[in-house]
Amino acid sequence: MSEKVIQKNARVEEVYNLFIKHMKVFLEEANLNHEEYTSFVNWADRLGREGELPLFADVFFESHVLRAMYTDKPGTQPSLLGPYFIEGSPFIESEPGKPLELTQRPGEKGELFYFKGNVSNVDGKALKNVKIEMWQNDASGKYSAFDSDAPRYNLRGHFYTDENGNFEVKTIVPLPYSIPDQGPTGEFLGYMDQHPMRPAHLHFMFEAEGHETLITQVFFEGDEWLETDVADGVRLDLLTKLKDKGTHKESSLNFVMRKA
Ligand code: BEZ
Ligand code: FE
Repeated sequence: MSEKVIQKNARVEEVYNLFIKHMKVFLEEANLNHEEYTSFVNWADRLGREGELPLFADVFFESHVLRAMYTDKPGTQPSLLGPYFIEGSPFIESEPGKPLELTQRPGEKGELFYFKGNVSNVDGKALKNVKIEMWQNDASGKYSAFDSDAPRYNLRGHFYTDENGNFEVKTIVPLPYSIPDQGPTGEFLGYMDQHPMRPAHLHFMFEAEGHETLITQVFFEGDEWLETDVADGVRLDLLTKLKDKGTHKESSLNFVMRKA
């Protein structure tokens, strides 16, 4: 039998010890009897086997980590990366005088939407050539490469800001959606009497040399799920107003990156 080599690492040791310490406090406080403990372990086992550990962690813990790191710091607040980002999205080339078009099927269902943004840094300097990854759900509330049968990179893409830090994207209005609720995560939410809905949002990742990568989301004023987002991802500086222009919807937001 080959022996497992474990590299000692002070930080990992510290974090794992804290994890055990606080799990014990939790078990004591919850006053679990042995039968309850066994059901809890069985539920956690199903969570892992059904591949929902990242989903569960993103719903209950990711926002907490981000809030602790960035609240009260200058710059745009980050929000959840979530489980639906995939690598390798297509590069969307800009054509002079035209908005970028997020990868979509011919006649993509949904409300036509133009989103404008500007990227600057905490000193107020506009940032040109920032790499922006964008992804969102479709008019059935689904993400390509996951629960939708759309092509793998549908409503996903990356592009760059112009000379003045601006970008404009032609897409569709994203929809509020339910996180997967038929597995162990949904079962857990059911026990807590918590609905599985997230407000509609656009996902963004901004990368610029000399700056911290900013992963965030944009939400829409008036969305009925803003205050009870199951994943607690909403921040006030991430809200935009959706304006109705008759033939299409329009909105905009400015983003501010922190220096590395
Ligand atoms: C999302 O933003 O896509 C997401 C975040 C947490 C859990 C599920 C989805
Ligand atoms: Fe999402």
